[in-house]
Amino acid sequence: MSTLTDNTDAMRRRFLTASTAVVGATGVAAAGWPFIASWQPSERARAAGAPVVVDVSKIEPGAQITMEWRGKPVWVLRRTREMLDRLSGLDGQLRDPASNVTSQQPAYARNVHRSIRPEYLVAVGLCTHLGCVPTFRPEPAPADLGPAWAGGYFCPCHGSRFDLAGRVYTGVPAPTNLLIPPYRYLDERTLEIGRDGNSA
Ligand code: FES
Repeated sequence: MSTLTDNTDAMRRRFLTASTAVVGATGVAAAGWPFIASWQPSERARAAGAPVVVDVSKIEPGAQITMEWRGKPVWVLRRTREMLDRLSGLDGQLRDPASNVTSQQPAYARNVHRSIRPEYLVAVGLCTHLGCVPTFRPEPAPADLGPAWAGGYFCPCHGSRFDLAGRVYTGVPAPTNLLIPPYRYLDERTLEIGRDGNSA
């Protein structure tokens, strides 16, 4: 003969069993979603990976703009003649002055200015140590960076230093030069980031 307590326990067990089944089904659906999502990328995801076009003629000499490409900041710096002159004479202070670490730039940016056209640096604005965003410090010899500073990028996280071509100095935590993304010029003033002569 069942008691009130027995009936209550049986009801509680049925409720728990039903609840578990619902949670289980939800779990399967959730686990399956990323795969479904990856089969059919959204417009937004497509846009996030798409090349980015910039009119470089609108950048003032000596100024830098930041674009977003694949969720990363990409800098376009328009260097003056004087900024370019400051790139020479630094080799002894740099870890990879000739950009021999080939993973860090396409072949066409493996030169002293690390770019197709000397005037424009195009670089991913993330420190190669742990990914902080370095600050743009173009002015030579500011009080906080010292008299030897020739202009460049300073990472506030752990003090890594890069010159105005994104070349890393020795004695800092960042192991390599800043990354140069694939890019090309569609005409004299139009830069396309994310695609180069070797890309489809
Ligand atoms: S993340 Fe830039 S120095 Fe560590």
